[in-house]
Amino acid sequence: VPPGEPTGAEPPVVDFPLRVPGESFPPPRYQDYRELPGLVLSYLPNGRKVWLVTRHEDVRSVLTDKRISSNPDHPGFPNVSETLGVPRQEQIPGWFVGLDSPEHDRFRRALIPEFTVRRVRELRPAVEQTVDRCIDAMLAAGDEADLVADFALPVPSLVISSLLGVPPVDRDFFESRTRTLVAIQASTDRQRDTASRELLRYINRLVAIKQNWPGDDLISRLLATGAIEPHEMSGVLMLLLIAGHETTANNIALGVVTLLQNPEWIGDDRVVEETLRFHSVADLVSLRVAVEDVEISGQLVRAGEGIVPLVAAANHDEKAFSCPHAFDPARTERHHVAFGYGVHQCLGQNLVRIEMEIAYRRLFERIPGLRLAVPVEDLPLKYDGVLCGLHALPVRW
Ligand code: HEM
Repeated sequence: VPPGEPTGAEPPVVDFPLRVPGESFPPPRYQDYRELPGLVLSYLPNGRKVWLVTRHEDVRSVLTDKRISSNPDHPGFPNVSETLGVPRQEQIPGWFVGLDSPEHDRFRRALIPEFTVRRVRELRPAVEQTVDRCIDAMLAAGDEADLVADFALPVPSLVISSLLGVPPVDRDFFESRTRTLVAIQASTDRQRDTASRELLRYINRLVAIKQNWPGDDLISRLLATGAIEPHEMSGVLMLLLIAGHETTANNIALGVVTLLQNPEWIGDDRVVEETLRFHSVADLVSLRVAVEDVEISGQLVRAGEGIVPLVAAANHDEKAFSCPHAFDPARTERHHVAFGYGVHQCLGQNLVRIEMEIAYRRLFERIPGLRLAVPVEDLPLKYDGVLCGLHALPVRW
């Protein structure tokens, strides 16, 4: 039965798509799922039923369907990380990625001016300076480094801190706490909890300062719009911090590996977009729940059932991309869904693009002899059930 036509048959049931150790990413199984008719049924580790969406066309239609919600408080929402033992953060006021229209719109409207191509272009010198400082530190330390710890993680965190108007003297504090938050392997639950509380306390203090002494920064401008209440500010800022840190870091690290394997593309800025599509690190980020009965690709999904659009599967769909498994920065298809799609599509995407472009350019310009210090198959792939990346990236020059 061709995909998309009602089958009347029982839907195929598959294991929840956690990575099997040793398997590449995106998992080769995604190809089989795409070829199955309708949707694929799966169960989260806690037994909850979810529908996996793997075709590009279906992912885009789910992410624009008003009968489908982003609200994690909805019973039936597929809280993937919670089922993996990571306690779910309470929906804090201002955590707008978990809100639906119309509540979501107010936040989005207030934040869009902060992330336009023009505004982000103004951040270019700050990004260049941050990237160069991290490279300076690596070069000063010798002829080898862990590009995840020394480059990919600090760059986005320092960029976000300058975006938020964190004073330079506090940036090391900010960077170390955000690093603890994302280092699933290297930090304990307790350390992460403490780091999260310290960051929240710091952000609350920063907001109070900006309320009294506004400056030329994102927090002051947001407060001035009056669209976001002071008590919602910490949720908004924590969201920017968390959404923009590890996602960007993982893309930078995986992109460097891909460039080392395909050196003919070094220096070509088109690698940025292709790296986003090719690696699709945020595979399990756009989680949803049906709030009404809805038919997707001929499959009836009942109100209250979870929906998991797999963006890595969509971005490797051969119906949407020619030779999708090839890394080809010259491809002309630009419709990847690495940043999601619809009203929640990544707010920080213009910023990510300049961060990645500057990171790759400066890294290979300044360290032309950069090479992997271990065989590529020994690189520790990190897949915590939400994002895909690397635990470490040992390099030499
Ligand atoms: C939303 C991916 C970097 C801020 C999203 C979504 C995806 C995504 C897939 C959609 C979530 C959904 O559908 O529920 C990525 C990737 C990144 C990246 C792959 C890096 C390569 C950033 C950065 C920032 C940021 C640097 C900001 C500093 C946000 C925010 C949202 C979001 C605020 C929520 C938007 C909304 O709900 O309206 N991102 N992101 N992201 N991203 Fe990103």
